[in-house]
This record gives sequence, C-alpha cells and structure tokens, in this order.
Amino acid sequence: MTLGIRHFLQFRDLDREELEYLFRRSRVIKERFKRYQPHHPLADRTLAMIFEKSSTRTRLSFEAGMHQLGGVAIYLNTRDTQLGRGEPVEDAAQVISRMVDIVMIRTFEQAIIERFARHSRVPVINGLTNEFHPCQILADIFTYIEHRGEIRGRTVAWIGDANNMCYTWLQAAEILGFKVHVSTPPGYAVEPEQAGLDGTDHFQVFADPMQACQGVDLVTTDVWTSMGFEAENEVRKQAFVDWQVDTDMMAMAARDALFMHCLPAHRGEEVAPEVIDGPRSVVWDEAENRLHTQKALMEYLLLGRIED
Ligand code: CP
Ligand code: NVA
Repeated sequence: MTLGIRHFLQFRDLDREELEYLFRRSRVIKERFKRYQPHHPLADRTLAMIFEKSSTRTRLSFEAGMHQLGGVAIYLNTRDTQLGRGEPVEDAAQVISRMVDIVMIRTFEQAIIERFARHSRVPVINGLTNEFHPCQILADIFTYIEHRGEIRGRTVAWIGDANNMCYTWLQAAEILGFKVHVSTPPGYAVEPEQAGLDGTDHFQVFADPMQACQGVDLVTTDVWTSMGFEAENEVRKQAFVDWQVDTDMMAMAARDALFMHCLPAHRGEEVAPEVIDGPRSVVWDEAENRLHTQKALMEYLLLGRIED
C-alpha cells in the first residue's frame, strides 16, 4: 500500500479550501475548452473507468475529459471482465492500479470502493455508489456558483428520495457552509449518520415538501428509484406521488431560485415538465459541468495545484 495518495470517495475527502481551488480551476479549464485552447497536463496518463451500473454522463465526461487533458481512458465493466466473475476487489485493485494512473469506479455499496482504494497505488474517484455521488455535487455547486455566486449561506431544498445525491448534498453543506431542507415521504427518511455528519446544524427535515421549498435558493430532486433498487419501483411510485417538484412548489422558493436534477429525469414523476424544461432549470449546464469539474479533479489528484 502506498501512502500519500488522494482519493475522492466521498465529498468530504476534500476540504473547503481544496474545493474552492477546484471551482476556480474548473472555470479556467472550462474557458480554455470553450476557446479550443489545448490543455494537456495529463499527457501519457491513463484513466481506468470501471462501471458496475449504467451511465451516459459519467462515462462520457470522464472519457472525453481525460482525452482533452492529453491522456487516455479505458472503459471496463463487470459484464466482460473478471470483476463480474468473482475476482476479489482487492486483487483487481492491485492489478489495475499497476497499469494506470487513476481509476474511476461506479458500483453498488460504498464499502466496495473503499476496499478498492485501500489496495490501489493510484487515486480512486467515486463515479457513484449507493451512498454517494460526489462528482455530481462538485458539478452542481460549480453550476450554482456560475449562476448565482457563492453558495455559503444559501439554502438548498432536497425533495424526494434520501439517496446518494441527498447524502452528498448533506456532506457538502457541512463543508461549504450552506443549509439543506430535506423532505422525503414517510418511510424514506434521511439517516444523517449515513452521511457521516459531524452535526445537524446544516440540515432541517420537513414533512411537507412545499414548506421545505419556502424561500430557498435552489430546489433539487432526483429519481424516485435509484439504480439497484428497481424491485421497489411500483411501491415507490405510490409513496412519492406528492413529492413531485412542480410549478406550485417552485413558486414557494425565492424569486431567483434555480432548479437542478442530476439526470436522467422522469418527467411527470419526480419533476413536472414545466419545471425541468422551464426558465429556472439549469440541468444542461449541470450536465456539461461534469466535464469541466472532473477535469479539474483529475488534474488535482494527479498533479496537485496548478495556478497557470
Ligand atoms: N448524472 C449521472 O451521473 O448520469 P449518468 O448516470 O448518465 O452517468
Ligand atoms: N440516484 C440516482 C442517480 C443517477 C445518476 C441513481 O443512483 O440511480
């Protein structure tokens, strides 16, 4: 095992100062990309991307991002690698991390990625687990900053399932100093210990989703059934029916409040079409910003701070 490697397995693996650096750096990297200015700090570096669940945005943004940084990305999945045939995660980590410079994994339990990271010689990035989706929140907060400035002191409403996105928002609120209003249906309550929070000052639970949206700066939601929980889909559709973000709910928020969704979305379930396709929605910027923020993240994990 090698000491001194930085992983991004959950949002709080980076502190506030590092996150603020990453947001500044994402802006520089985005501007260069928009000007077609070559930026190849990761020439000759290789990223392995391991997927145990489906993906459009995460795969594309990491693969395109690594290419744009001058490196190469290799896609692996459990269907046609030995990972799907029971090779221990620890052995896979030893082998894969001897051949590449950085690894991104999308898997089920957080414990799997933690085990991989413990046996990896190179940085490991969480591309989504059942518990967390830190790369998405990096992009979401960068998107908020681009549109509205600093997020410190603001309030975000989380409406719907207490899932990987919700828990990552809760971690981010504690680190970056904003509040989260959480509203979930009965039986799907948030369990703060899952986010490993130090305190409860940064979030408040609301039984009524309309109340949770009162005066907030950002309303966000996600699918009612996350990947891996498909067997619960029909039961969840009944339980979550009053937790759809619609125009009435958005009307409770501050006048300049934004709407976010990590995508893919189900119009008519967790969000009304008028909201996701409406003027306050920034979902396309959010998706694009996966590219820029993850480029900044990979550059930081491999090279440290760059101020050029
Ligand atoms: N938001 C997100 O992670 O999308 P994908 O599942 O398409 O990667
Ligand atoms: N919560 C969703 C996010 C998908 C990007 C899931 O885990 O399926």
